[in-house]
Amino acid sequence: MEIFLDTADISAITRAAAMGLVDGVTTNPSLMAKESGDPKEILARIADVVPGDVSAEVLSTDAAGMVAEGRELAAIAPNIIIKCPLTPDGLRAVRELAEHGIRVNVTLCFSLPQALFAAKAGAYIISPFVGRLDDIALTGMKLVEDIRQVYGNYGFDTKILVASIRNPLHVVEAARLGAHIATMPPKVLDLLIRHPLTDSGLEQFLRDWENARS
Ligand code: E4P
Repeated sequence: MEIFLDTADISAITRAAAMGLVDGVTTNPSLMAKESGDPKEILARIADVVPGDVSAEVLSTDAAGMVAEGRELAAIAPNIIIKCPLTPDGLRAVRELAEHGIRVNVTLCFSLPQALFAAKAGAYIISPFVGRLDDIALTGMKLVEDIRQVYGNYGFDTKILVASIRNPLHVVEAARLGAHIATMPPKVLDLLIRHPLTDSGLEQFLRDWENARS
């Protein structure tokens, strides 16, 4: 499973990339708004730091606007892919962008029929938002399981990216279900790496070594 960071914070991305842990990055307008500077320059820097796909989201809500914006954003770097929302206009834009050879991550997916329509429109990635479904007392990971089954039934090669991850268990479940990508905030990546037994074990080793030599 590919590991993506869900942030536009270049320092956090650079730190995680240095450990060889980050395959790609997802951004959205809320995440971009937290960073200061020119959005296109920020995206170019991110695209330079990570080896894989970097999602840049359109702000337009009409299909023509999304296509125009998508073409501009895709020109920033070869690994920039375009994020379009799962709306009727978004689906039209997916088809058009795909015809121009531009890969689209369809975002804000909350149901199986939405995921099916995104794949039929030619989505490169579908992003089910698991945390936001959990927030309204639905089971986000069940949607991931259903999408995996239905895409398998019909041979769609759209990648499943588990989005809106809130905790390590979401990542474990995403891997168990065979999702292609999990995107997570830097805090969740840190929690996945650390283990109290690793820390206490290391402390013990070093203490024993020092005691034997003193
Ligand atoms: C994914 O691409 C989105 O940017 C993100 O996962 C949204 O997460 P949130 O629901 O925590 O805002």
